[in-house]
This record gives sequence, C-alpha cells and structure tokens, in this order.
Amino acid sequence: MQPQVIKSVQEMRLRSAQLRQSGHRIAFVPTMGYLHEGHLSLVRKARDLADVVVMSIFVNPAQFGPNEDIAAYPRDLARDKRLAASAGTDIIFSPSNAEMYPEGYQTSVLVKDVSQGLCGAFRPGHFEGVATVVAKLFNIVRPHLAVFGEKDAQQAIVIQRMVVDLNMDIDIVVAPIVREHDGLAMSSRNEYLTADERRQAAVLFESLRTAKELIAAGERDVDNVKTAMRTVISKASKSRIQYIEIADSINLKPLGRIAGEFYVLLAVYIGKTRLIDNVKISVPDKNIGQNSH
Ligand code: PAF
Repeated sequence: MQPQVIKSVQEMRLRSAQLRQSGHRIAFVPTMGYLHEGHLSLVRKARDLADVVVMSIFVNPAQFGPNEDIAAYPRDLARDKRLAASAGTDIIFSPSNAEMYPEGYQTSVLVKDVSQGLCGAFRPGHFEGVATVVAKLFNIVRPHLAVFGEKDAQQAIVIQRMVVDLNMDIDIVVAPIVREHDGLAMSSRNEYLTADERRQAAVLFESLRTAKELIAAGERDVDNVKTAMRTVISKASKSRIQYIEIADSINLKPLGRIAGEFYVLLAVYIGKTRLIDNVKISVPDKNIGQNSH
C-alpha cells in the first residue's frame, strides 16, 4: 500500500493524536530521503516494534555548514515513496523549509559535550542543527519510539542524551549498520562517488576490520591501532583522512588505552566525498572474575 504523505505540521499532529487516541504505538524513522537499504532496515525494525511507522523526509538546512552544498543533496520523493512503501512505512511526513522554520524562527537545541568532538569538531553547528530538527520532529510526530542508524553513532548518542536531558518520553532504538558486499557502509553520499572512487572506498571498512583484528589479537595501544588503519587507508590514492578516533561508547571521550566498550570511528574523504563509518568493540576487563572463586 502507498504511504500517506503529509506535508503540514498541523495535519501530522492531528494524525498522530488520532493514532494515539485509538491506542496505536507509533514508531518514527527520521531521514533526509534518497533512501537506501540502510534506511529500509530502520523501517523494518520500526515495523517490528510498533503498529504504525512514520518516516520523515526533510533535508534539514540547519545541519549543513556554509561550505556544505545542501542544493546538491540527492532528492527523489517519488522513488523514496516506493521504497518506503516496500519496507512497510505507513506515513511519510515531508514538510517544506517554511513549514519547519517559519519566519521569525529562532530556537535551537544544543547538546554540549557529546556534540563537540569527532564529526562535531569538523562540522561546527551540525549536531545543534540535528538535535533541533529531531526535537521539532519528535514534538510534531509524537512517536513512542524512534529508530536511528548506528553508522551515525555520534548522532545517535547526541539524540539519546537530548531525550534524557529534556525528559522526552520516547525510546531511542539504534539499529546496526547495513553494508555493501565489500563492507562499505550504506549512505546516500555513496551516490557522489565515481566508479573508481567507489572501489577505493572499500578501504574504510578494511581499516576498521584491521583495527578489530589487531584488538582481538591483544593490541591495546591506541596509536598502534590508528597507525595500522592509516596504512590501510593510504592504499587508496584518492583518500584523505579527516579523523580516526577510538572513543568510549557512551560519552565518546577518546580512550588513552584500549579497554571496555568503545567505538573505532573515522571520517575519510574519497575524492570530494566525505564518508564516515565505525565499529563498536568491547574487550573483556582482565580484572573481572579474578577473585570470583
Ligand atoms: O541522519 C539523518 O538523516 C539526519 O541527520 C536526521 C536524523 C534525519 C536529521 O535531519
């Protein structure tokens, strides 16, 4: 069945109120459109957890920096509708910029510490834009739960923090990364890659796999892991590393030494396209269990 497309805030609020009144559980998948298998996996997860799935498609100007080309962001609502329907989306909320940020708009949501490092250090204001639009979308759609992809691990952590800090009654579900056959994480930005760049982009996952293998073999020195990852990535002539970091999985603080549960994260340009990826790893704490007998 084709999803219902709602463009006005008022209509979306009304629909959500009706659904809640009739006892439906609403799951929400926020997107910027140009859907791929990664988004569809979020919809399927949402379907499993609720009765009604609402997806937003809104290319949010507040999260693009002055040097980032929002006009070039890929868009195709007709295709998105087909794909969203195939995965079980009931309602698409697709507002205009004027609907979301009307004349006189001036409020923003700043989640402080976890927005600062990693992508936040290179994209000032990005996570403020994300938190703001997601808070607005939550207030409009009024879901019981919302599903985010782990590829954007920092974003998911920012949103989890916001929901706790602002007492929003919404469960945040983080769904695993969906990868291409060579391990490249699915992303709307992969569209920008030429055929040669697309082949080269496989080094991102290869470097993460290298990190995982080294850590599994007992490496605990952060710099050694990062150096090995750089070596892998430098095989791709069109690559330029923006950052490689190993950070705590809850507060995203960089680790001094490998321990506990953490993300290995990276942002790498392949040609002009900036790609991000990560893996979550946990290593057993050697002290645990030592005195348990
Ligand atoms: O991950 C995205 O696509 C966006 O950052 C989001 C969450 C839809 C907010 O605009």
